[in-house]
Amino acid sequence: MKKGLRSRLAQYGDEEFALFLRRGFLKGAGFTDEALDRPIVGVLSTASDFNPCHATAARLADAVSRGVRLAGALPFVFPTVSLHEAFSFPTSMLLRNLMAMDVEEMVRALPLDAVVLIGGCDKSIPAELMGAISADMPAIVLPVGSMLAGRHEGTRLGACTDCRRLWAAFRAGSLSGADLDRAHDQLMPTAGTCMVMGTASTMAVLAETLGFTLPGAATAPAVSSDRIRIAEATGRRAAEMAVKGGPVPRDIISEAALRNASVVLQATSGSTNALVHLAAIAGRAGLAYDLAEFDRVGRDTPVLLNLKPAGNFFMEDFHAGGSLPALWRRLKDHLDLAAPTVNGERLGDIVARWPAWTDDEVIRPLDRPICAAEAIAILSGNLAPQGAAIKLAAATPRLTTHQGPALVFDSLKDLAERIDHPDLPVTPDHIMVLRNAGPIGAPGMPEAGALPIPKKLGAAGVTDMVRISDARMSGTAFGTVVLHIAPEAAAGGPLALVRDGDIIALDSKKRRLDLQVDESELAKRRAAWKAPDKPARGYARLYAERVTQADKGCDFDFLGG
Ligand code: FES
Repeated sequence: MKKGLRSRLAQYGDEEFALFLRRGFLKGAGFTDEALDRPIVGVLSTASDFNPCHATAARLADAVSRGVRLAGALPFVFPTVSLHEAFSFPTSMLLRNLMAMDVEEMVRALPLDAVVLIGGCDKSIPAELMGAISADMPAIVLPVGSMLAGRHEGTRLGACTDCRRLWAAFRAGSLSGADLDRAHDQLMPTAGTCMVMGTASTMAVLAETLGFTLPGAATAPAVSSDRIRIAEATGRRAAEMAVKGGPVPRDIISEAALRNASVVLQATSGSTNALVHLAAIAGRAGLAYDLAEFDRVGRDTPVLLNLKPAGNFFMEDFHAGGSLPALWRRLKDHLDLAAPTVNGERLGDIVARWPAWTDDEVIRPLDRPICAAEAIAILSGNLAPQGAAIKLAAATPRLTTHQGPALVFDSLKDLAERIDHPDLPVTPDHIMVLRNAGPIGAPGMPEAGALPIPKKLGAAGVTDMVRISDARMSGTAFGTVVLHIAPEAAAGGPLALVRDGDIIALDSKKRRLDLQVDESELAKRRAAWKAPDKPARGYARLYAERVTQADKGCDFDFLGG
């Protein structure tokens, strides 16, 4: 296998000429022959002016490059698709697979011996892992790190849990526009990813648990010196991997690693989005992510991490409180400690050498959990034959078993047009249904599952209702919200057949979500159902034709294995 600059030569039918040309261009950029004979580490940067969560990515790429050079290899920084949650129309999830394909194809095409994947904002780390697993190149993830918590009038604020809380109070009329404006400046006070246990924090923690980062890399704040040191160490380690030719991602990912990820996802009360991403990541390695096992793991795993939105603290407190290996130590009887990591150590080696001190308030001991029950449950039933998810840790307990009449919104547009209408026929007992918001229907399965409480109910003091959909929900959100219903309505799933007034029964204890309508009536409705039109062209067309359902990870059906 050719290494460094000699690898993956452009095909001119004359390899020596291809190398002569390649070296010539780099000599033109000022490189010496000695530098060009070194192993090469690609440093994949997701810096973009449209991605404020990654505002430090260029600085991290510099620190990684320093580490690569210190270890005797040559770093090359290169760009890829960069996705920010608030800057990707209609939703960044639509573009996750595009980013994964970009990562895979560029890693395959460029003359690299190893690659460092810098990412953070929600879809980036999943896309990078999906691409790197498919490319099977030695790869190490460097999360950009989280923001510091904001401080406003005596309260610590966290994006985006407090963005949602303040916005809901403003909609309900209990917070003035002036008060909201003052808090606005403090909601995202530094560069970095959302500092609560949202999807970005969850995926950083899961990347480390799967074995794809250096120990402690998930939690260091974006603007801390720890983060820069971790970046330098990541560069050093990537250079070693470039020389050795491994480990490659398929040496790291395994059923045991995925099960460890399930344990940590439950124990951190992480984002439900991780279920979709883990299924896609597993699929790239030819593995199946087992949602039934995830549910079983949850029944046995208490929530120990006291971070918003389920708890009180922020990522910087998790870092100062002992970081992720300290949580692994608390969970050691639940984890497979023999699972390998890119660092060359097994999870158990890291736990054994990690400093003993742990902040018991942030990382609770097993006998004093934040929540003794599971954080996330997987439902099935005649409304969700391929499954659905509910984040019990973010739900109102009395609503997790509830029966009520359906109020159906047929699309995101329908929802936006009617939700605040004063004549909307809604009561707090209704179950609000949003459909055609899944992978094909929306498209891209946006984070619209936490439907807003109708204004008139919000003004009357209602703060939560049962809401069900084929959409996703931000990891920073809360409420009694059933998500990821599969198959989705646009694929002909039973959600497409629900009508206003139908009785829906949610029973989280029994893991059931059922539509109480006769099968003969449903058969009539099914016969009358028509699939929505697909986009006419381009990436959206490819997406609508080849995306899998939520339980399979919403990857393209031709990219697995
Ligand atoms: Fe980027 Fe939350 S919007 S991590």
